[in-house]
Amino acid sequence: MLADLPDDCVDSVITDPPYNSGGRTAKERTSRTARQKYTSADAGHSLPDFTGENMDQRSYGFWLTQIMTEAQRLTKVGGTALLFTDWRQLGITTDAIQAAGWLWRGVLAWHKPQARPQRGRFTQNCEFIIWASNGPIDASRNPVYLPGLYSASQPSGKKRRHITQKPVEVMRELVQICPPDGTVLDFCAGSGSTGVAALLEGRDFIGVEKTRHYTEIAADRLTETLRDTLGQEDCTLAA
Ligand SMILES: C[S@@+](CC[C@H](N)C(=O)[O-])C[C@H]1O[C@@H](n2cnc3c(N)ncnc32)[C@H](O)[C@@H]1O
Repeated sequence: MLADLPDDCVDSVITDPPYNSGGRTAKERTSRTARQKYTSADAGHSLPDFTGENMDQRSYGFWLTQIMTEAQRLTKVGGTALLFTDWRQLGITTDAIQAAGWLWRGVLAWHKPQARPQRGRFTQNCEFIIWASNGPIDASRNPVYLPGLYSASQPSGKKRRHITQKPVEVMRELVQICPPDGTVLDFCAGSGSTGVAALLEGRDFIGVEKTRHYTEIAADRLTETLRDTLGQEDCTLAA
């Protein structure tokens, strides 16, 4: 899909790839499904699995390097990349983004207030967002002051549409890094949370998702956002 897009067509790549993490041993990480890794027994939902979760760490590093190289071709000079990851994959993710030619700028934290305390240990209540730019940033194009810490719970109940869904309120803050007239790309769109946030914040959005079930959920959520929230009656998504 990315290979068919022209050079310099997006301002920000904001994406949440499969972490390929979630397990104490290499075997657990590569042999269990996304559902087994990221859904607790008492989760209270039966959301389907998604693809791309069974790479070992080296394969994940190569895959991410390749796809972020292609994403850089699509991104204007001065554009930005934001990549979600967890503590285990922090190192490989920062290596991959730099190997792909991006200038690594820092690490943001998503704090999850509902995370369970663990006896005798620190609470695992943060996931991370690696951010980078495609060369120098021209701050005059988007003179924002953005925080480095974001706190919100993962959606629950009827709002939970994906196993590893990100809160729209966090995504709405993150898409501010894209200039107001700009375009956001999410090449692992899942249920479309980045896209919903981009549209709500007046940005254009290009999304790619490989698992059919979630492609349909994302298309529904984007259409609902355009039609019901933004009042655009004629809102056919470009396929
Ligand atoms: C961590 S989830 C994204 C969740 C999303 N942020 C949300 O809030 O719903 C990663 C998604 O990437 C998709 N995926 C995995 N490999 C992919 C690939 N090569 N191309 C496109 N999508 C892919 C998976 O199907 C999964 O839905």
